[in-house]
Amino acid sequence: MTPAPHEDARSDGRYGQAVFRPDQEGEGARIDFGALAYDDITMTRLRALGVGPGWHCLDVGAGTGTVSRRLLDEAGVASVLAVDRDLRFLTRRPGLDVLEADVTAPDFDPGRFRLVHARFVLMHLPERDRVITALAELVAPGGVLVLSDAVDLTSDRTPGTPYTAVMRALWQGLRDTIGTDVSWVPSYPHLLRGAGLVSVAAEIHVPPLLPGSPISRFWADTWQRSRAAMLATGLVDEAAIEEAVRYLDSDECAALSAGMLTAWGRKPESVPPDGPPTAPDQSGGDRAAR
Ligand SMILES: C[S@@+](CC[C@H](N)C(=O)[O-])C[C@H]1O[C@@H](n2cnc3c(N)ncnc32)[C@H](O)[C@@H]1O
Repeated sequence: MTPAPHEDARSDGRYGQAVFRPDQEGEGARIDFGALAYDDITMTRLRALGVGPGWHCLDVGAGTGTVSRRLLDEAGVASVLAVDRDLRFLTRRPGLDVLEADVTAPDFDPGRFRLVHARFVLMHLPERDRVITALAELVAPGGVLVLSDAVDLTSDRTPGTPYTAVMRALWQGLRDTIGTDVSWVPSYPHLLRGAGLVSVAAEIHVPPLLPGSPISRFWADTWQRSRAAMLATGLVDEAAIEEAVRYLDSDECAALSAGMLTAWGRKPESVPPDGPPTAPDQSGGDRAAR
């Protein structure tokens, strides 16, 4: 398949290579700060969509596996398959199935699931529109695809702060090095509809940037790991990054964090040409008996 133009845009790597290398000390803790900031929001949305007992779930780019484990422990789902291209941070527990795989691989096809969930993954993948279509195909009839990613809420009217200056450099630096692009995220509802899903909707959660909070620590850590990419943009220097770290940790901070946009859509029940609609597939799968 010929790559879309933006698939060619990355210069020297992918997530986990030029930036966010898993072998760099503390990368698992950085992912956990993001999870601490957002897991409750994610779980509330998944429960509101009906995720619960009997559901077979796929968690794509599961990271440390906090959502995968909470699906089992709190929502009481029947099974979770946690997939990541690097499983070293994934905390295992009985009942949690794991698979090391690259979700962009053309042959990625782990079965059919009533819930397919991907959080903070697609924004890093230059092949995002092809992957959204592929993930929609993994949803069993009546199931849901739920995507969450970062959304940049700044505009040309946003007051300049040390935080906004550094965030601009972060998004630009990640785009130049690993192809991360959050400008697509507000289009997710449209892309889900285009992938044949119905009852599509979306919401945004913006955690407060309080000193010492998980989200503030997440951003400070993320800047630390992306420092070379940010400096290479020419938009900030070392002093600006240090100033932003101090600002985040101070009572002066009056910036709005990037938010998390969650978009979801449901796969229609299958309707046979000559008969009534079939009952929802309670097993969640038809291909891999999941
Ligand atoms: C920012 S972390 C998010 C982890 C988790 N979803 C969460 O929200 O806490 C992104 C995860 O996606 C994984 N990832 C990145 N590209 C991937 C790919 N092409 N296939 C599978 N996993 C990928 C990374 O290894 C990492 O664990």
